Amino acid sequence: MDKLELLEKTAKENHVPIMMKDGIEFLVHLVKERKPQQILELGTAIGYSAIQMARCNELIEIDTIELDFERGMQAIQNIKDEHLDYRVHVHLMNIDDFKSDKKYDLIFVDAAKAQYRRYTEMFMNNLSDDGIFVFDNLCFHGMVDDPSLIKSRQTRQLCRKIREFREWLLKEESFHCDFYSSIGDGVAVVSVKSE
Ligand SMILES: C[S@@+](CC[C@H](N)C(=O)[O-])C[C@H]1O[C@@H](n2cnc3c(N)ncnc32)[C@H](O)[C@@H]1O
Repeated sequence: MDKLELLEKTAKENHVPIMMKDGIEFLVHLVKERKPQQILELGTAIGYSAIQMARCNELIEIDTIELDFERGMQAIQNIKDEHLDYRVHVHLMNIDDFKSDKKYDLIFVDAAKAQYRRYTEMFMNNLSDDGIFVFDNLCFHGMVDDPSLIKSRQTRQLCRKIREFREWLLKEESFHCDFYSSIGDGVAVVSVKSE
């Protein structure tokens, strides 16, 4: 079993949410095609997506943020095992406290779904001129488009927020948004039009 299969197994056994198979394939393809050098990832979990992005190209540097101590420590170890720790930096902290002047070519947003709009606004100034945002989980297991699947009030609120966020991305004139509802758990790639 290779390292990635092992991470997938560990994530499944420990109920750690990681990107779905076709979602991560899409992201890897995008990274190989666009060749971003500086990447910011919101939501590291155990380092699965960060490792896959870093493997695409030796010039890639990644800042990735994780709040959960145990997951973050596992990510640090997994990244070290892959000899990627010199260019993949795990920040064990709340995204809200992360401040940087760096410009990123790709900002992958995969943390608290209800906060996506706030995160977009927070990190807008960190996007390089040709940079893109990538968002995962915009369908939230089909529940955003089919509310009959929703079992709890909390999930209903979350799905409403995700739906509103999606609508905002699609109608905001300064964004160019490609939304792929059938990839992974619903992925969007967003660039910001220059004025
Ligand atoms: C879906 S997982 C990330 C999966 C990872 N990108 C992958 O595909 O391998 C989302 C992670 O975001 C973290 N998270 C949620 N809210 C956060 C916050 N405010 N600051 C930092 N991390 C946060 C969670 O602890 C969780 O591990």
